[in-house]
Amino acid sequence: MKSPQSIAIKTEQLVHTVSTSAGELTILKGIDIEIKEGESVAIVGASGSGKSTLLGLIAGLDVGTGGESYIYEHALSNLNEEQRATLRGEYIGFIFQSFHLLPSLTALENVMLPAELSGDYQAQEKAMAFLQQVGLQHRLDHYPRQLSGGEQQRVAIARAFASNPKILFADEPTGNLDADTGKIITDLLFELNASQGTTLVMVTHDNKLAQRCQRQLIMAGGCINEPRTRSNESESDEVSEA
Ligand SMILES: Nc1ncnc2c1ncn2[C@@H]1O[C@H](COP(=O)(O)OP(=O)(O)O)[C@@H](O)[C@H]1O
Ligand SMILES: [Mg+2]
Repeated sequence: MKSPQSIAIKTEQLVHTVSTSAGELTILKGIDIEIKEGESVAIVGASGSGKSTLLGLIAGLDVGTGGESYIYEHALSNLNEEQRATLRGEYIGFIFQSFHLLPSLTALENVMLPAELSGDYQAQEKAMAFLQQVGLQHRLDHYPRQLSGGEQQRVAIARAFASNPKILFADEPTGNLDADTGKIITDLLFELNASQGTTLVMVTHDNKLAQRCQRQLIMAGGCINEPRTRSNESESDEVSEA
């Protein structure tokens, strides 16, 4: 499990088709990806190309209509909704563009919630430590509406890391933030990624942010295209040092 060669995420011909009023729409057209433990990977591409759909499926929020997706050795198509929730609790943190904090809970309560739900009796202590790490130790008792967008996203990041996920997914985590705040948030993501050895998979429109990741996967029309870059041209099977 701790080997740098462990595969955290894998898909095999992952397909997703939905019914719309205009008929069937195939959003993902046979995706094959492999992401190693500890890697940072950006998913980029035009709006509507299927990035969020792919992220949701590989994070186990939903299941594809065809093919297979794995979180470590677990094949997601074999699992029911409850089993997927348990698996997410064990492996996954997720940060959304729109923060998704619960408005009736304070910053501290929002961060504590996942660990508390999984029965961790140190939930509060850990939540306080993570809020301190994101610079919000003086805001523990504030409600989301009392916090700026950047502060809310920092709470969301603290919440994602508080459950100590092996894999962190972020869907345009800086999309609703100004450039300076976005920089603070992404520095934080990479810092926490490095300090915890967490695999980081993010969807972003921001080219600079994408370049900070070790690999970039380009989505177009429901398909993935991975460019040959410095990080994968010399040793295609190894985790890059770059
Ligand atoms: N549940 C759904 N029902 C119908 N169409 C959907 C559904 N989810 C996504 N789509 C469509 O699939 C395409 C890809 O969506 P999405 O994955 O959100 O793209 P991206 O994140 O790259 O902008 C879009 O055209 C979107 O409107
Ligand atoms: Mg999207």
